[in-house]
Amino acid sequence: MALSEKIQKTIEGIRHQFPTEQALLIPALHEVQNDYGWVSIEHMKDIGEFLHLPLSKVREVASFYTMFKLSPQGKVDLQICTNISCWLNGADKLVACAKKKLHVANGETTADGNFTLTQVECLAACGTAPAIMLNEDYYENVDEAQLLNLIAQAQNDLAAGKVVGKETRIEGLWL
Ligand code: FES
Repeated sequence: MALSEKIQKTIEGIRHQFPTEQALLIPALHEVQNDYGWVSIEHMKDIGEFLHLPLSKVREVASFYTMFKLSPQGKVDLQICTNISCWLNGADKLVACAKKKLHVANGETTADGNFTLTQVECLAACGTAPAIMLNEDYYENVDEAQLLNLIAQAQNDLAAGKVVGKETRIEGLWL
């Protein structure tokens, strides 16, 4: 396997904006995730080959940032921040509530493939903690009742064939 021509073309098109091959690693990971929904170990090998970087380096970066998904994801990525501000303001209750409602543990996807629950580090909304995201949509000062409403709304939207949250793909991100 190799990186798709489209991804290679995108990376080549922005190469001049980045000082080193290593600096292109994050854009390359984003491109793969945009196209495939997640980044597999095979994709990491392909990126490493393309950018002349060892797999260990690619894996190190991909696994550090929680925005990179290293396993197939549900249609809705429900991210709950469990860093200090959010934890002090009830994130633990939100996590317990989501686990109970969706019957999944952290990092798991529901049997119907609709939701993946992910505990994440700071979402940069510490002043309005606790913060969560449904795909690319932010929600702040969330309590358990709101979380259950958001899950119910997302279930309704999915059943109606709608996309939940903003599209995760950002065209022209690197222009
Ligand atoms: S600690 Fe949760 S948004 Fe910063």
